[in-house]
Amino acid sequence: MSPSAQATTGRNGGEVVIEAIDVVRHFGDVKAVDGVTITVTRGEVFGLLGPNGAGKTTLVRMLATLLPPTAGVCRIGGIDVQQDPMGVRALIGLAGQSAAVDDLLTGRENLEIVGRLYQLSKPEARRRAQDILERLSLTDAADRLVKTYSGGMRRRIDLGASLVGRPEILILDEPTTGLDPRTRIELWEFIQHLVGGGTTVLLTTQYLEEADELADRLAVLDQGKIIAEGTSDELKEQVGGDVLMAAPVNPADLPAVIEVLGGLDHAAPWVDERRQQASVPVNDRIAALLAAGELFEQRNIALRDLAVSRPSLDQVFLTLTGHMAEEQADDETTPLPPAGQSSNGSRS
Ligand SMILES: Nc1ncnc2c1ncn2[C@@H]1O[C@H](COP(=O)(O)OP(=O)(O)OP(=O)(O)O)[C@@H](O)[C@H]1O
Ligand SMILES: [Mg+2]
Repeated sequence: MSPSAQATTGRNGGEVVIEAIDVVRHFGDVKAVDGVTITVTRGEVFGLLGPNGAGKTTLVRMLATLLPPTAGVCRIGGIDVQQDPMGVRALIGLAGQSAAVDDLLTGRENLEIVGRLYQLSKPEARRRAQDILERLSLTDAADRLVKTYSGGMRRRIDLGASLVGRPEILILDEPTTGLDPRTRIELWEFIQHLVGGGTTVLLTTQYLEEADELADRLAVLDQGKIIAEGTSDELKEQVGGDVLMAAPVNPADLPAVIEVLGGLDHAAPWVDERRQQASVPVNDRIAALLAAGELFEQRNIALRDLAVSRPSLDQVFLTLTGHMAEEQADDETTPLPPAGQSSNGSRS
């Protein structure tokens, strides 16, 4: 084994194939990535979740040899990314946020050229291109110039290009952003199919549903730092197990509702302005429900809804980061300033 290649063992005894250790990247004064450590074991899907500007793309670009870190170490397949970038490139496929395909070629030509870059024979490059076009439902558009493709078709051909070399490690930067729901689900199925074949996947996303669906483990990145890590269930657990939601009949009662919820377990409620309702994490669902019912009655607040549920990953994200994912698309839910810090107080 070369001095730069080290096999490491990770969680559950699996072989660690993607590693970032105390990785930092500054752009001038901006600490885009501020001391991040992650490990991904072979065959795992690891989701990197975070709002716009969290540092996802910066981290992914460092792992993919495209950007040198300011400090820290990245290893892929045990190979130090800075010591042997070519060795790393032979192991990974990368589908980035900005498409790497050529607009002035057809989809098929793009894939065949990537195949030739991998030094495949012409017939083999052609075979793989056809196979990928079929899998990604792009056969109808295969012989059209990419510049005529829709956004979703571009995403798919870009993903396709990352697959030509049959990489054992796939790094996907927001693979389904901007796709319609049906195409998104198709892509999820496709990624799951690849994982079934043994591919390790690191993917970034702003869609909590996507992380929930695909990832074995997640890290939530915010302002360059990992603020939570675990399985989606573990993250939900961190928020306190359950969420109590109350909606007043009269919108003028919303502030009083927030006050009641805030007093239950001393966690900060959040408000959904559009639905005129507030929610708060609670530890004991029955006790919280009974206590809230009594308080609402004492204060004469009529409710149109009162319910306890498991938190969605969206709520987890909101509690951890203090702001919603997909903020630009949906900023109707505003968190209140936290009364106490959330269960993970490792920020700043
Ligand atoms: N080349 C660069 N030069 C200067 N600043 C940069 C550069 N690349 C990224 N940044 C800054 O680093 C921070 C993290 O950006 P990054 O693109 O990694 O975020 P992201 O999580 O991928 O966001 P998005 O969800 O919008 O893609 C941002 O503040 C961004 O402006
Ligand atoms: Mg990005």
